[in-house]
Amino acid sequence: MSATLAAHRLKRDVVMSERMTVLVTGGAGYIGSHMVLALLDAGHRPVIIDDFSTGHEKLVPSGVPLFRGNVGDSALVAEICDSHKIDAVAHFAASIVVPESVTDPLKYFVNNTVNTTRFIAACVDAGIKRFVFSSTAAVYGNQDVSPIHEGANTQPENPYGSSKLMSEMVLRDSAMATDLSYVILRYFNVAGADPQGRSGQLSQPATHLIKIAVEAAIGKRAAMQVYGTDYPTPDGTCIRDYIHVSDLIAAHMAALSYLQKGGASLLANCGYGHGASVRDVLDVVASVAGQPLDVTDAPRRPGDAAVLVADSTKLRSALGWAPRYDDLHQIVSDALAWERINSQCGR
Ligand code: UFG
Repeated sequence: MSATLAAHRLKRDVVMSERMTVLVTGGAGYIGSHMVLALLDAGHRPVIIDDFSTGHEKLVPSGVPLFRGNVGDSALVAEICDSHKIDAVAHFAASIVVPESVTDPLKYFVNNTVNTTRFIAACVDAGIKRFVFSSTAAVYGNQDVSPIHEGANTQPENPYGSSKLMSEMVLRDSAMATDLSYVILRYFNVAGADPQGRSGQLSQPATHLIKIAVEAAIGKRAAMQVYGTDYPTPDGTCIRDYIHVSDLIAAHMAALSYLQKGGASLLANCGYGHGASVRDVLDVVASVAGQPLDVTDAPRRPGDAAVLVADSTKLRSALGWAPRYDDLHQIVSDALAWERINSQCGR
């Protein structure tokens, strides 16, 4: 055998041995669908479970195995793990709207905490050893120090944050008693869309600031409001650390490969380490869209922390993560491009 052929076979074998079958919960949703694309791009095999409470079949690439159901359905999870020989799990499925969690907390505790607990139990029963969990900056609540380090006290301001914090505890304690290893990623504000235009947010009605603002910019909605202008921030509006969805997914891919190499369980923030106020965001949207927005000031929204900015040192050092899209203009311009595609499709 020639040296070139031998080298080619060695490279192929290495790639094949690293290929994983990954169960993506919520894979038909905004963030989960980006994970499915990244897994396909990297040569892995995604398998999706989604109950379509907020997911869309349009976001599922053809050929990807898709199971309709809830992660709390233990029999279904057992069947998927058995029939598809799942190597790892990326658990995105959750309810994620902060104000809704304030008015309907039980929806959040049942859907996020109870169903996630059932799901973790089913994964442990199926012998799954690698688990990447979507948590949130909402576990921190209001903090005196910014940016926020993972060692900060957790003091959620809303039931959404509490429901995720409890799930973190379930995962951590289950892992201590089994051979399950995890990476918990605490997301700050995820926004933007796939730069190649293959996926993005489809939530109707829109629930998050950048989607609402780009809808206003292209005339999908007449006006929008700024919730709270009397926060202790330079312009009085809340500050958030907006992270491009593709950079967030790069953190998940790094987490999977870290666990695959035998890395110990860890928890890391996902953000860039700097924030933008609501007014900053609206200025960038108006500038990128070339369109002034019709904005009015409104009272504070219950459950909002004033400032949430990540210390992402750990993500960079432990997982070797380096962002590619750390630019609010890029985030907004990808979100806007996706919104325009959808308007043309009439979605
Ligand atoms: N906002 C407005 N007008 C709107 C919508 C939002 O002023 O029409 C404000 C909110 O009051 C808040 C900021 O924009 O101050 C961001 O709000 P989002 O609803 O976009 O996002 P949240 O900060 O409430 O929540 C998101 C994620 C959570 C995460 C949290 C942490 O959904 O998972 O960020 O930063 F925990």
